[in-house]
Amino acid sequence: MSPPIQKRILVTGGCGYIGSHTLVSLLDPSNATDNDVEYSVVVVDSLANSSSESLRRVADISSLQNFTIDHEGRSGQDDDERLVFRKVDCCDKPAFQAVFEEFAPRGGFHAAVHFAGLKAVGESKLVPLQYYRDNIGSTLTLLELMEQYGCRSVVFSSSATVYGVAKDETAKLKETDEVGVTITNCYGRTKYMIEQILGDFHSSHALLRKEGNQDAKDWSITILRYFNPVGAHPSGKMGEDPHGVPNNLMPFVAQVAVGRRPHVAVFGNDYATPDGTGIRDYLHVMDLADGHVAALRYMDLDNSNSHKNGVGKLNVFNLGTGTGYSVLDMVRAMSKACGKEIPYVIGPRRPGDVTIYMADPSKAKNDMGWEAKRNLDDMCDDLWNWQTNNPNGYGASD
Ligand code: NAD
Ligand code: WQD
Repeated sequence: MSPPIQKRILVTGGCGYIGSHTLVSLLDPSNATDNDVEYSVVVVDSLANSSSESLRRVADISSLQNFTIDHEGRSGQDDDERLVFRKVDCCDKPAFQAVFEEFAPRGGFHAAVHFAGLKAVGESKLVPLQYYRDNIGSTLTLLELMEQYGCRSVVFSSSATVYGVAKDETAKLKETDEVGVTITNCYGRTKYMIEQILGDFHSSHALLRKEGNQDAKDWSITILRYFNPVGAHPSGKMGEDPHGVPNNLMPFVAQVAVGRRPHVAVFGNDYATPDGTGIRDYLHVMDLADGHVAALRYMDLDNSNSHKNGVGKLNVFNLGTGTGYSVLDMVRAMSKACGKEIPYVIGPRRPGDVTIYMADPSKAKNDMGWEAKRNLDDMCDDLWNWQTNNPNGYGASD
């Protein structure tokens, strides 16, 4: 048997919630056997909303020996150099370029997965420039450096929020549905704008070639629109570690369950849904993580086909389960997981919230062969396991 092909993936924002779980999927040998690929990862993260402790947990779960991080935010070499960390703000071009320079002599990066960004919807309305600077600025810098160093495959973390308020709120959202127009917040608009930027950038290469620039190489770009990721790694060693009061439902519910907060405030029970509370498409974070591995593989397939037809693709996929649960469904499911009643109080609606968000995830299944495998019990059991083992999250400061 020939040794697996090594592919080095640049992961921006890899210390955060979704990024860190995706690292585990990328480093999981059982994800590599069928096509003889072994991923190694280089993580860049500013630690603006995370702690590098998450990487120590990734190393632990992935059985990487001797993974260390020094006080400047640089990892030492684990024995196989499969997980590398550089504390870098992706908007800081010279610092980010130094990472590309460092790895260029060793073959550079096969692809990038771009998680880095700010994500708090409420905060984004208060400090919009910070959100535009961070989310759009980091993306532009990444694309410029990738082009310069000849890495032309990128997976981007977009969000269901780009759909805004759908005309028919009860319908499952499809990738071809309208985006952008009815977005209710600045965060969502940054995601929408980045999708537009990626589209313009993608189409520019074919145009440049038409103009006679034969060096303009095609890019392979995958936009993943996540629905509502929840849960944690089943080991209980990794999970979501929000700073301050959680904005999202399930981290809040988990903190009530563990006794850190008195009750859940349910944001409205007068929506047009069976129990009056908002419905969302919650998916297990490890299913979402696996979606990134599926996307990278799918892009490789696309790229090998593109030698035939000369076109690297831009693909958009919804990642969700296609099933919706209400706020009260979620509170009940978490009560079942932790074996006690979770107190809640009905409050007013939260401005900007939609009634129902559900994915039509069939395109991801048909094209990439990805579908969510974990159910609501898995999401809540794993969240509870994480929360009870780590009542104060990672508890580390960098
Ligand atoms: P997170 O905040 O846990 O992770 C984002 C990471 O990016 C953090 O570690 C943060 O320190 C880092 N970061 C921020 N700005 C940076 C910069 N300029 N340079 C380097 N690192 C930077 O968030 P998450 O939940 O893991 O989300 C990951 C991505 O997925 C984000 O782009 C987010 O917008 C998107 N997304 C998240 C959700 C969700 O519900 N969690 C849903 C849809 C999309
Ligand atoms: C879910 C439901 C709330 C908190 C947000 C972003 C979206 C994406 C995922 C990044 C809603 C209700 C919530 C609480 C509640 N993030 N709720 N009490 O709003 O669907 O999506 O996170 O891209 O862009 O908008 O998720 O978890 O905040 O809310 O009743 O304390 O829970 O009204 O119905 P949301 P959420």
